[in-house]
Amino acid sequence: MEQYVISGGIPLVGDVEIGGAKNAALAIIAASIMADETVVIENLPDVRDIRVLLKAIEEIGAHVERVDRHTVKINGSLIDSVRVDYEFISKIRASYYLLGALLGKYKKAEVAFPGGCEIGSRPIDLHLKGFKALGADVKLEYGLIHAQAEKLVGGHVYMDKVSVGATINVLLAASMAEGKTIIENAAKEPHVVDVANFLNSMGANIKGAGTDVIRIEGVEKLHKTEYSIIPDQIEAGTFMFAAAATKGDVTIKNVIPKHLEATSAKLIEMGCEIEEFDDAVRVVASKPLRSTQVMTLAYPGYPTDMQPQITTVLAISEGTSIVTESIFENRFRYVDELSRMGASIKVEGNTAIINGVEKYTGARVAAPDLRAGAALVIAGLAAEGITVVDDIYYVERGYEDFEKKLALLGAKIEKVSSEKEIQKFTLKVS
Ligand code: UD1
Repeated sequence: MEQYVISGGIPLVGDVEIGGAKNAALAIIAASIMADETVVIENLPDVRDIRVLLKAIEEIGAHVERVDRHTVKINGSLIDSVRVDYEFISKIRASYYLLGALLGKYKKAEVAFPGGCEIGSRPIDLHLKGFKALGADVKLEYGLIHAQAEKLVGGHVYMDKVSVGATINVLLAASMAEGKTIIENAAKEPHVVDVANFLNSMGANIKGAGTDVIRIEGVEKLHKTEYSIIPDQIEAGTFMFAAAATKGDVTIKNVIPKHLEATSAKLIEMGCEIEEFDDAVRVVASKPLRSTQVMTLAYPGYPTDMQPQITTVLAISEGTSIVTESIFENRFRYVDELSRMGASIKVEGNTAIINGVEKYTGARVAAPDLRAGAALVIAGLAAEGITVVDDIYYVERGYEDFEKKLALLGAKIEKVSSEKEIQKFTLKVS
């Protein structure tokens, strides 16, 4: 088991390069198998979730060739199975994008039913409702979702709730259905747009991605393409909060500042200065940070994937803040860990009431999920003394070289795998 060990209290200063968006990449990898020609995907983040999904598509017969650390070639012409086992779904829920991709291409898919996860129960009823609206017969048997259609035909899909996953899954299937599909109340997240752009570059006919009505004219075949994934807005936002928490001055490069507007707006309210460039943002935290109110919402609202990071910084900002989580029901599990570092946070239902304290003090904490794990690292960077973050495999699901990028900004952080190494680090920094 690996840990991060951090000696906190050092302002982060310098430049950091952001990688490709994990959540866009997951859907794009699934979409790539819909072509029978070779698809080249660039700016792929080298993180665990991506490696698992690449393995899952290899398992069903797709040919996967790593060109370099961030580029992959995928060819879906030799797929010989439409069944994705629980082994993959249990590691990476987004393997369920293979339902939409396989159903669209082969009119048949069998994918293990994903369970809940660390942040909530996460139903997939809307995905299935969407497939049914395209004429598929969908049933659950022996833990597998079977989706099948004699003929997949375009349909009208109204999403009762804004869902990134359901929007993308229906988009995938509808791209190769006969006729026109309309998705209403669609998710507008940047990665939904990226997936639509990717599919269009393979010959799909999708209009309106990024608005709440997406129109898809199905096509018979999708062809080869070369595509570069958008920058990861959540990785970028995480570094923005790390800069704020440590009273630093960090320029976050290779981003689309528009995608970071909700995060930037909150940091400005909290007293940071934000400078926007064409493809970079600079965060300067030279003044004391102050409280604010936040509610997570679908894009362009404040992202739920940035909720633990802002809560962590508000806990060391002056005054009382309120953070309301409106997307997932179980996303405050890290608060107990922050309390062990000195935070004063009370969680009532989906709301956290935060009384800002002067500082964190280092402690041993455990990451309960991906983004909360990153938030605990932020707390450790700001804390006085040594923090050890356990269970960092969660963090590695979505952050490439996290500790290396932070170290380049001046942080004292190392990835270790034994108590002895923790002691060695402690001796070195004291
Ligand atoms: C995606 C992201 C995740 C992010 C989330 C919200 C990926 C791989 N993951 O997750 O990091 O936190 O968007 O921005 O891109 N819901 C239903 N029925 C459904 C589907 C969803 O009730 O069939 C509910 C969910 O429980 C949740 C809400 O809709 O309350 C939004 O979830 P959704 O946007 O689908 O999240 P994911 O796509 O799973």
